[in-house]
Amino acid sequence: TSQDALPALLLEWYDVHAREMPWRVGPAARKAGERPDPYRVWMSEIMLQQTTVATVRDYFQRFVTRWPSVRDLAAAEDADVMGEWAGLGYYARARNLLKCARAVVSEHDGEFPADHAALLKLPGIGPYTAAAVSSIAFDLPHTVLDGNVERVMARLHDIHTPLPAAKPELMTKAEALTPETRPGDYAQAVMDLGATICSPKSPACGICPWRHPCAARAAGTQNELPMKSPK
Ligand code: ADE
Repeated sequence: TSQDALPALLLEWYDVHAREMPWRVGPAARKAGERPDPYRVWMSEIMLQQTTVATVRDYFQRFVTRWPSVRDLAAAEDADVMGEWAGLGYYARARNLLKCARAVVSEHDGEFPADHAALLKLPGIGPYTAAAVSSIAFDLPHTVLDGNVERVMARLHDIHTPLPAAKPELMTKAEALTPETRPGDYAQAVMDLGATICSPKSPACGICPWRHPCAARAAGTQNELPMKSPK
């Protein structure tokens, strides 16, 4: 399989197997080219940073029900937001959430900027979140590298360099694959692949859309990757 064919193979899989999540648009809307609300994408990505999808679902629903837009959130009392966040942990995320919402209102007229560099300047938005929002919400060709993507890249290319030293190499590989067409769906597809098929233990290689090009599968090393430096 040529490298050029990989994104399309994965997108074909995603069109059938995308996980339903409250911050995503459904299959029909996705097919029509509809993008999810940047506010919802941003909030979900902040919540998902140190918390599982299963836990985030309910918190996300409560937040967007109470504050449906970034303007609503910006106008909230600090104590109300902290109270709604209780249980999610890493409370700096909640303080930055509110700071960021207020900056979007005061500096960007209440609209998240469709621009990676502008997103990076906002409170609490680092390289991961800027790439996630610019790709998922705005369909810009930026590359997200989370734990799932690192594992998928390490296996696809049979990279034995241990984490965290391997990160730059894994990012280079991930960037090289990021397509110009549907980069937002592609970003979510790699994360879904890592979360469902290319799981840390007993990956389901037999049904993986990348089983043929996967170098780790060919070498039989998939269960050992990614390598990790001893703590
Ligand atoms: N983990 C973090 N963000 C995600 C997303 N948008 N889709 C799937 N898994 C994720």
